[in-house]
Amino acid sequence: MSEGLTQAAYIVAALFFILSLAGLSKQESARTGNYFGIAGMTIALIATIFGPEAQGITWIIVAMVIGGSIGIYYAKRVEMTEMPELVAILHSFVGLAAVLVGYNSFIEPPAMGLANPADLHAEHVIHMVEVFLGVFIGAVTFTGSIVAFGKLRGVISSSALNIPHKHKWNLAAIVISTILMIYFVKVDGSMFALIVMTLIALVFGYHLVASIGGADMPVVVSMLNSYSGWAAAAAGFMLANDLLIVTGALVGSSGAILSYIMCKAMNRSFVSVIAGGFGNDVSASSSDEEQGEHQEASAEEVAEMLKDARSVVITPGYGMAVAQAQYPVHEITDRLRQQGVEVRFGIHPVAGRLPGHMNVLLAEAKVPYDIVLEMDEINDDFPQTDVVLVIGANDTVNPAAMEDPNSPIAGMPVLEVWNAKHVIVFKRSMNTGYAGVQNPLFFKENSQMLFGDAKESCNKILEHL
Ligand code: TAP
Repeated sequence: MSEGLTQAAYIVAALFFILSLAGLSKQESARTGNYFGIAGMTIALIATIFGPEAQGITWIIVAMVIGGSIGIYYAKRVEMTEMPELVAILHSFVGLAAVLVGYNSFIEPPAMGLANPADLHAEHVIHMVEVFLGVFIGAVTFTGSIVAFGKLRGVISSSALNIPHKHKWNLAAIVISTILMIYFVKVDGSMFALIVMTLIALVFGYHLVASIGGADMPVVVSMLNSYSGWAAAAAGFMLANDLLIVTGALVGSSGAILSYIMCKAMNRSFVSVIAGGFGNDVSASSSDEEQGEHQEASAEEVAEMLKDARSVVITPGYGMAVAQAQYPVHEITDRLRQQGVEVRFGIHPVAGRLPGHMNVLLAEAKVPYDIVLEMDEINDDFPQTDVVLVIGANDTVNPAAMEDPNSPIAGMPVLEVWNAKHVIVFKRSMNTGYAGVQNPLFFKENSQMLFGDAKESCNKILEHL
């Protein structure tokens, strides 16, 4: 494939990626968005593998077959609830790739076809800076993503790591890395400086994510998504591959925008979160203390309550995903709507473990989009709601976020379900949610607990409806 044709293919692929992002921004067009992404990536791969720069095509194909097989195997096996972990570990691969490309590009710099020695020198300096920054971003992304994976899987504690003077350590890591970069460029490539910086960046990435507490994890996942994009863009600069630069920048900026939206939704400062949990130093929440008695309801009683209701709101959370309760939830919705009950869904922006997690599950069960509302659209309607069904949600319906300034989730906007006449909470025990804080909602006078697996509870209700 000629250079011109490769570049033309790259432009077409970049356009497909932009169309893909546009499609993914809405539930209705998300599937088409995915197809655009697949088409763009296919064109990009063909143009790169058969482009003028590629060598050792057999090796590339062998690597793709091995990597692709592992990818297909895991993609088929992964549960929807494990999706965030998969995304986190995939981000770590992008980070590692940027580090390897950086070292490779340093050891074997690309030939620069510039005749003028001054231009050649300038180009060389730029290349050295690219290598240094690429390795730095890649290393931070690598360890940061591994910690995020561990926290999401539950093998690393989800509470924030609070080492003394943590911000000073972070600042020191950045200052020392900058000095090392100047040294690296000045002495024309010191492997020692590159290795020391890589070690610092690895520890920095670990610390950055480890010091972010449980409830702020959604922001971390999207932030690492952004970092992985910038790591890919840095690799694009090192390899002088325009498409990789464009794609990396698209991922980097869309991840940054998503992090910003998440921060707004959670009422967190963007800078605080990316700096590693600024202002997270809250004392133990007073809502952990004994809250009083809770009341229980049976499936039959809930069914009766639903039959008498005029308006019902369902607020799903992570537990609905675990129980795969979206199908019976949809059936309950259909039955009630047939009987003239108004049923709507209220979705918190960070419900579940992945942006849009609940929307994906409800779409999978074919719940109509027009009754699925966002938190801001439904919050004012709770006082006029007869029954709220809280299905496997906990942190996202926790009044402590509004009432207890010492709570780790203080300030996070929540679904104000307790303003409805009756609240039924579907869960298996009195255990806490992801952020590890007790929920005063369960002890309110108008709340009743329906204990058991959410899917089984929904099926029992269906029997009585
Ligand atoms: P959570 O606060 O995580 O609570 C889920 C509840 O579901 C648990 O209390 C659990 O109680 C219950 N549950 C689990 N399995 C169940 C089953 N089979 N049947 C019935 N109930 C079950 O959920 P949430 O309200 O969706 O909040 C999400 C949390 O995750 C937030 O803190 C958010 O910050 C964090 N987070 C979100 C994301 C994104 S992007 N959405 C990413 C990372 C972290 P039992 O054990 O008693 O059943």
